[in-house]
Amino acid sequence: MKQYRLGFLSSHGGSNMQAIIDACNSNELNMQPVIVISNNSKSQALIRAENEGISSYHLSSAKYPDIKELDNQIKEMLCKHKVDIVILAGYMKKIGDLTLKEFKNRILNIHPALLPTYGGKGLYGIRVHQAIIDNKELETGVTLHLVDGEYDHGRIINQIKIPVLKEDTPESLQKRVLANEHSFYVNTLKKISNREIIL
Ligand code: GRF
Repeated sequence: MKQYRLGFLSSHGGSNMQAIIDACNSNELNMQPVIVISNNSKSQALIRAENEGISSYHLSSAKYPDIKELDNQIKEMLCKHKVDIVILAGYMKKIGDLTLKEFKNRILNIHPALLPTYGGKGLYGIRVHQAIIDNKELETGVTLHLVDGEYDHGRIINQIKIPVLKEDTPESLQKRVLANEHSFYVNTLKKISNREIIL
């Protein structure tokens, strides 16, 4: 039996999710992906889940207009699949109180900057990298943190720094940061696994 069962929440491409699934498949991680939930019925994340034979669900406010009910559905699905750790990978929605309470200190998010700077409402996707370039920062990075009720806010558990190059555009920076995120997410999960990082 694997050490942890993983549940993913993703709105878009899910390239971080795929990197983690690959690491599970190759036994680099002693973990098992068991469920993928997306609020976006057309997301690449749901296609990836189907390709991998992982249970996948489209749970959104279009299906559950009552925000509490949506939160409850997400929580129930994660519980039904006996998820130990919830992995957010490009999930653009806030996590509701019921899910936060049930999975306290067991929900991780990745953010493409050095939190606590360059995070929070409105700072997502290309906007993060645009702000870094606009402010002529010499350094950016990637942050993994526990999730709480505010965007990009919970306890930081791991970070890497990445230099900003003179010739960088927001797009080139975004690409280089994302390429670093994949191994960083996997390595951080390894540290959780061997208790170098305690959640
Ligand atoms: C990543 O940049 C991540 O840091 C942010 O959203 C992006 C998701 O990319 N939270 P992907 O869906 O994993 O490809």
